[in-house]
Amino acid sequence: MANDKVRLGIIGLGNMGSGHAKNIAAGKCPEIELAAAADIAPEKLEAARGYMPEGVRLFSTAEEMLDSGLMEAAIVAVPHYDHPRYVIRCLEAGIHVMCEKPAGVYTKQVREMNAAAAAHPDTVFGMMFNQRTNHIYRKLRELVRSGRYGEIRRTNWLITSWFRSQKYYDSGAWRASWRGEGGGVLLNQCPHQLDLWQWICGLPVRVDAHLSYGKWHDIEVEDDVSAYVEYANGATGVFITSTGDAGGTNRFEIQLDGAKLVATEDSLRLWEYRPSTPEFEKINTEAWNSPEIVEVPVETDGQNPQHVGVLNAFAARILRGEPLVASGEEGIRGLTLSNAMHLSSWLGRPVEIPFDEELYWQELSKRIAVSRLKG
Ligand SMILES: NC(=O)c1ccc[n+]([C@@H]2O[C@H](COP(=O)([O-])OP(=O)(O)OC[C@H]3O[C@@H](n4cnc5c(N)ncnc54)[C@H](O)[C@@H]3O)[C@@H](O)[C@H]2O)c1
Repeated sequence: MANDKVRLGIIGLGNMGSGHAKNIAAGKCPEIELAAAADIAPEKLEAARGYMPEGVRLFSTAEEMLDSGLMEAAIVAVPHYDHPRYVIRCLEAGIHVMCEKPAGVYTKQVREMNAAAAAHPDTVFGMMFNQRTNHIYRKLRELVRSGRYGEIRRTNWLITSWFRSQKYYDSGAWRASWRGEGGGVLLNQCPHQLDLWQWICGLPVRVDAHLSYGKWHDIEVEDDVSAYVEYANGATGVFITSTGDAGGTNRFEIQLDGAKLVATEDSLRLWEYRPSTPEFEKINTEAWNSPEIVEVPVETDGQNPQHVGVLNAFAARILRGEPLVASGEEGIRGLTLSNAMHLSSWLGRPVEIPFDEELYWQELSKRIAVSRLKG
């Protein structure tokens, strides 16, 4: 390996793969050198000639690129079903790998990917959870996890700011189909929030979800979701998302014993309860009393490096063993949430986590068999 730079190949040059290439070409990842890229679509390779730096080798299959010996690291930026396949291939070849979200479509296939990672512990495996670099969510996690405000009582995420038009859904045959994408808003837009939700609050133990399929668009997968969850400590949570609300909202509220935290697109607010609710109940003597509620300013570092931040940490891990933003093995956690929501909707009842992963695959297979996208 060159000592000071990681030579990187990109698999898939669509929206995201080309975005990564352009960021690197613009010098935003000083420890990464673009060595190669691959896409099965000739027009994507043709377009790549316009933005790729001189000397980057282009391949018409990922396999040829991975066998070329030109790189020591790769990004997998193809449609979701193929994430585990290419990650496993990289790991087995000793090629460090960054996987785009989601980790895969169903947890059973992601378990195989994680087993390959366990078998190749010296090969770096990261997940592109770029929203974890957002100072608002980093601070929110720090405050919740510090224990300073006691236990979580309630989590609520209203994340409907994912409006998508019919034209968007019509822009790629794989999109919004069971066979091509394996789900809708939960698999495409929400993996970021599902990861953050579990990263900050932990995984629930029970999920009761109501999904509407093709409610706002002419698609076969879900575009509207209302899910209720229960945590091991008795806390409850609600997650609502949709791609149908033109003026959607992003509001994440966490109620703790001793505080309320509210994160929106661009702000984080904290109200402290003085004393915390359990302490208040021990000492209060009046019927119409409640803890004093005081808003406290929250300071963050203001940094939000997103995809570039994840890639720079990936390079630093490979070169110097520094921490990743998200390890690849963590991808299964957010996917567990979306799989549990789908399964709950398909079975028409709440499901426990862990759920029956074989049953999930059987139910998904039924939908793939009648998918509009033919195999
Ligand atoms: N982290 C983020 O913020 C973010 C944003 C957008 C997309 N993504 C993820 O990136 C992935 C790609 O999404 P997109 O919007 O770029 O899709 P896209 O359809 O624009 O691009 C996918 C590309 O992969 C190519 N491809 C498909 N199969 C291939 C194969 N076997 N070998 C080589 N190339 C292949 C296609 O020709 C296409 O160019 C998805 O999993 C998506 O969830 C992540």
